[in-house]
Amino acid sequence: MAGHDAQCRLGLIGAGTFGLRHSRFIARSDRADLVAAADPAFGPDRPVPDELHDLARYCDHREMLARGDLDGVIVASPSEMHVSHALDCLDAGVAVLVEKPVAVDREQARPLLDRVAADSRARVLVGHHRRHHPAVAAARELIGQGRLGEIRTIAAVWATHKSDAYFEVEWRRRQPGGGMLLINLIHEVDLLRHLVGEIASVEAIASNQARGLEVEDTAGLVLRFANGAIGTLVGSDSAVSPWGWDQATEDDPTFPYHPGQPCLLIAGSRGAVSVPDMTVFTQPAPSWLEPVTQNQIPVEGADAFARQLAHFADVAAGRARPLVTAEDALRSFEVVRTAARSRVS
Ligand SMILES: NC(=O)c1ccc[n+]([C@@H]2O[C@H](COP(=O)([O-])OP(=O)(O)OC[C@H]3O[C@@H](n4cnc5c(N)ncnc54)[C@H](O)[C@@H]3O)[C@@H](O)[C@H]2O)c1
Repeated sequence: MAGHDAQCRLGLIGAGTFGLRHSRFIARSDRADLVAAADPAFGPDRPVPDELHDLARYCDHREMLARGDLDGVIVASPSEMHVSHALDCLDAGVAVLVEKPVAVDREQARPLLDRVAADSRARVLVGHHRRHHPAVAAARELIGQGRLGEIRTIAAVWATHKSDAYFEVEWRRRQPGGGMLLINLIHEVDLLRHLVGEIASVEAIASNQARGLEVEDTAGLVLRFANGAIGTLVGSDSAVSPWGWDQATEDDPTFPYHPGQPCLLIAGSRGAVSVPDMTVFTQPAPSWLEPVTQNQIPVEGADAFARQLAHFADVAAGRARPLVTAEDALRSFEVVRTAARSRVS
């Protein structure tokens, strides 16, 4: 483990679908070990998941935190519990990687934001893992260097068909916390803010027509960025398509990989890029009568979760500042919350 002091000793709060996926990402990592997990569902009636056999298990996360030997904790409990679980971790003096959304309400988030602002030792990273993908870093550099000129338009899509079984979990069917805006499109909003800049206003239509649940299953957002760019973001958890970050990258092996399919199209006054395939289109003298030149930016080491984990180990050790802070993540939450209020059916 050249260059690093020691393995980061991690705990997990919430050993459900994504908590277990985190445990698999950690098992592949040379930067961190998972040593304990907490979930009230642990108990004699529930078989222990294979991933968690060899570590200490607790029904109450506060007992886990009382061990006193953890460097960091990943919070993957239902979304409405994120703030209180993150605060408990900070009280125990450990760094937190809290899953998105960081909160389900601005007021709920306030104590966490205040705590981070007041305590320089409070380290909170929010799990918008896509920012750690090298294609995102490459796109941000391309845009930041002005190679696309002034950004004018963005078209983003995330559309896939979740199974009915996914919605048997109670919190995914209801507010606050459920719905594809807060569970899925918040990632796209975070990426767009990271790549293009702050979103000044949003108009949206959200619908629950496909599944008939309390929460939306399909939505369209029109975004006006502070720099003048205008974007659209459409998404559905009830539509078949290869378009969406989960299908277009190998971030999460749970989802089949459809290489070469873009899910963000960003166009500026001098050029355009499609992400994550990183095809770049430019024109030395912009004209709709001339062909655009097409190039590919190579993307290597595309494992966003491994990179996020390595970054979290650095954050926990005080070597890095969080790439996604709680305050930053809350801005993405605000955009999707506005959209979620725009339900039409
Ligand atoms: N970053 C991503 O790409 C990504 C992907 C999926 C889910 N998530 C986020 O991860 C979180 C969990 O989602 P999920 O699909 O795994 O949910 P889930 O319902 O499958 O798992 C949640 C787990 O938390 C446990 N839990 C409930 N109360 C608890 C408590 N008081 N203390 C500890 N554990 C408790 C439940 O028993 C369950 O095992 C959500 O906030 C979701 O938005 C993020």
